[in-house]
This record gives sequence, C-alpha cells and structure tokens, in this order.
Amino acid sequence: MGLGYYKKLKKRHILKRLVTERFSEPLHMNIVAFFVWIFGSYKAKIWFDLVLRQNHAYSLLQAAEHAIANGIKKITVIEFGVATGGGLMNIGKICQKLSKIYQVEFQVFGFDTGEGMPEPMDYRDHPELYKKGDFKMNRLLLESRLPANCQLVIGKVKDTIPHFLQHTDLINAPIGFISFDLDYYYSTKEALSILQHHPESYLSRFPVYFDDIALWSHNSWGGELLAIEEFNQTHPMRKIEQNRFLFYNRIFKHAAWLEQIYFVHVLDAPVRNRIRVNEPADVLVNPYL
Ligand SMILES: C[S@@+](CC[C@H](N)C(=O)[O-])C[C@H]1O[C@@H](n2cnc3c(N)ncnc32)[C@H](O)[C@@H]1O
Repeated sequence: MGLGYYKKLKKRHILKRLVTERFSEPLHMNIVAFFVWIFGSYKAKIWFDLVLRQNHAYSLLQAAEHAIANGIKKITVIEFGVATGGGLMNIGKICQKLSKIYQVEFQVFGFDTGEGMPEPMDYRDHPELYKKGDFKMNRLLLESRLPANCQLVIGKVKDTIPHFLQHTDLINAPIGFISFDLDYYYSTKEALSILQHHPESYLSRFPVYFDDIALWSHNSWGGELLAIEEFNQTHPMRKIEQNRFLFYNRIFKHAAWLEQIYFVHVLDAPVRNRIRVNEPADVLVNPYL
C-alpha cells in the first residue's frame, strides 16, 4: 500500500467514507479487490476503485478510451479550483500512467486565483461554508512539484477562460474531462463558459466531476447545482446530465462520487450530426431463427 493511502487513512472523514462506502460492499468483492490490488493491471485497479481519487481515475480512463476509439491522440483535461494542488497532482499522475497504456497524450490545466477564495456574493455561494481567503495556494512550491503534463492558469476564471480559449489548440487536443471544484455558484457559472467554444474543442461526450454538491447544505437553489441547471436552460446544443446507469456499470456501488459524475453532451459535435450513408447496415442476430 502506498504512502498516500496511509496518510489518507489518518483523516477521520476518509475513514468514515471507507467504512460506509467500502466495508458495506460484499465481502467477496473486497477479497477480489485485494488480489487485484496485488496482481491487477492499472485499468483493473481503476475498475475496482483502488486508485486514489476514484472520480478522476474513472473519468480519465473514460476520456482515454473515447479518444482512442475516435483516433484522437491528445486530449485536454481541466481542473477548476486547485488550492494547494492535491487534485491537480493526482490528475497529472493518473494521466501519466494512462498515457503509457493508451498512447494518448494529456495536457492538464489547473485554473485558480492563486490567492484562495474570492469574496462570496450572496446565499447562492454558500457563505456559511466558504469565505474569502480560504484554500490559499503556495504557487512557487506547487509549480516546482507539478507533473510535467500540468500547468497552472492563474487569475479569476472570468478573466482567464477567454484568453485560454483563444490561445489553446483544442482542435488537436479536445477537452475530455473537467473537474469543477470552485465551491461558489458564481465561479462555477463563470467556469461553465468553457463549454461555449467550437464543437470540435470537445470530445462529443465527456465526463465532468462536480465536487461541491455532496454536503448537507448543498441544494438546487445555489452552488454548482444551480449553475448546472441555468447552463442547461440557456445552451440548447450543450447539455450537462448525470448518467443514470453509471451505478450499474460499477463494481462498487456505494461510492458517493458516482453521484458527482455528470456528462457533457456536445449535441452539435460533428460526429452527432453526420447522417451515415453508404455504410454496411447493422444486422441484429435473432437467436430463435
Ligand atoms: C476547494 S478549493 C479546490 C481544492 C482542490 N480541487 C483540491 O482537490 O485540493 C477551491 C478553489 O477554487 C478557487 N476559486 C474559487 N472561485 C474562483 C474564481 N472565480 N476564479 C478562480 N479560482 C477560484 C479558490 O482559489 C480555491 O483555491
């Protein structure tokens, strides 16, 4: 077991999650997981939720497999809200491992003020949970330790996103995963403007993770949930939706992160608007004939 696991186990909320989410799963599956942990491939470990920050591991695997299936050699990954960089470094390291398996290159960008949380505006930003100055970054230290595939984009997202979209070659490296962890409603609403670019700038559907929907205070009238709803109302060709069947596709079903994964559907993606002609028709096999 890596040092990362030991450090995490010392934290009370992580221990609580382990007990409620993992020890409540069938014993035989946890035994199988033990053998996967010792002998399994990296991909098997992702399937058995053995890679730290399972939400990132699942989403990045999805993105890599989608890219390969569509002949895409490079993808862009974004984390909104970096703070001290634990999430960004985790994403960078998972991408490095997946790159070796899938021959897909990843470029990872972490967006943050660099100075911690800005001022909240109103109740929709949950000022009872978050305040100005929370989650400060040690930029110099973080930049000196970041994996080579990661870079920081420093500033308020409303200022940095337009410049990023103008200067990043997303056509040759479409966005394949975004993690949203900006805590505030208004910051998330501004960050969602990343989804308004040319349709070729994205995989035609890709996972997004919303970190700040899981606390008891979170609700549909504020925070990330409100930002998602308003985005869907105002963007007819881009939609953000939970995959209702993700639960059935996972081995371990009690994990809270399953509820935090959504998918962006790029309805105007070229592949979704190509009417196929002159291709051999698919035939369904009837086992009774
Ligand atoms: C909870 S922290 C992120 C934690 C990080 N994802 C992790 O896994 O460790 C939220 C971060 O969002 C950033 N943030 C919030 N609103 C922002 C905005 N409008 N523009 C840029 N960064 C913002 C804050 O600076 C803060 O560091």
